[in-house]
Amino acid sequence: MTKSFSFTLNATDGKARTGVVATPRGDIRTPAFMPVGTAATVKAMMPESVRATGADILLGNTYHLMLRPTAERIDRLGGLHKFMNWDRPILTDSGGFQVMSLSDLRKMSEEGVRFKSHIDGSEHWLTPERSMEIQKLLGSDIVMCFDECPALPADRDRIASSMRLSMRWADRSRAAFGDRPGHALFGIQQGGLEQDLRGESAEALRAIGFEGYAVGGLAVGEGQQAMFGVLDYAPDMLPADKPRYLMGVGKPDDIVGAVARGIDMFDCVLPSRSGRTGQVFTRHGVVNIKNARHQDDPRPLDEACGCPACRNYSRAYLHHVFRSQEIISSMLLTWHNLHYYQELMQGIRDAIAEGRFAAFQDAFHAQRAEGDI
Ligand code: GUN
Ligand code: ZN
Repeated sequence: MTKSFSFTLNATDGKARTGVVATPRGDIRTPAFMPVGTAATVKAMMPESVRATGADILLGNTYHLMLRPTAERIDRLGGLHKFMNWDRPILTDSGGFQVMSLSDLRKMSEEGVRFKSHIDGSEHWLTPERSMEIQKLLGSDIVMCFDECPALPADRDRIASSMRLSMRWADRSRAAFGDRPGHALFGIQQGGLEQDLRGESAEALRAIGFEGYAVGGLAVGEGQQAMFGVLDYAPDMLPADKPRYLMGVGKPDDIVGAVARGIDMFDCVLPSRSGRTGQVFTRHGVVNIKNARHQDDPRPLDEACGCPACRNYSRAYLHHVFRSQEIISSMLLTWHNLHYYQELMQGIRDAIAEGRFAAFQDAFHAQRAEGDI
């Protein structure tokens, strides 16, 4: 018998929840942070190193992989897990969001979106049906519905018609996904910053029925206050017994605040991308390793961090290899940042399980207020 996909809540503390998403490829402890492996790699990291930071699941991208090396090639080579040497769960985004931000000459219609590749200008089509087909060829464990996400600010009519199109596409995504035991399809709520549109979107998704529900259309320029404003009500509109995923978020304080509002899953390029630009996340806030104040500093980035960058190297060394554009700089800083994010998630999970999440939040903000010394 194929093991199935399930979500078990173990504890709640206020609106914060901790539990486990079980899949045939392994468990995902929630709240979970998914490192982004857009092009079949978490940049600068070996998959075994990503696992060593504590990640249970990675995110991959339909848009990038369909263009290069193509979904059909990955399928012929045994699927994305084997191709990239990651045998644990993979969630794939559906492509629509990336088409909007990356491709050239987009043409939207009821059917789907036609676009030109940002790599070589070649023409491609994405529809809900084709997105489901690609995510199946990749072997994705958690498949995202094909949706559209307008950039904010946008006027209410545009947000409403876009959301309704995404709901029709969610219906077509569900039909095209079919019956695939052990694999999950997540719906994506849209509706911008409009409470009634978020409600209408949630109703549409609940009527179709999904294994999990994402809050989409946030972290697109509205700012943290507006995002939290939506998260004060949006997660409550989605089924309590299914995982809730906030797409593309975020900074550590975004994550803590979103967990407090009932979110279970996150993904963001921030820890990996920042690792390559010299931005380091610590308990005391962001440190820029490029800064000259580090050049003679024999101390680690963070005394309390157990990652290889902090155990074995000084700030002076990390500053030097960053300034010299040495490859090891991206490797060490990305490792540290991903380790920091996973430790944050473990701290969050433990605090919820022990009923002290409010105190955890206070301590989190107090440490950051101290700043890097
Ligand atoms: N990533 C960040 N936000 C979104 C969204 O609204 N939809 C999709 N598909 N991906 C996202
Ligand atoms: Zn570290």
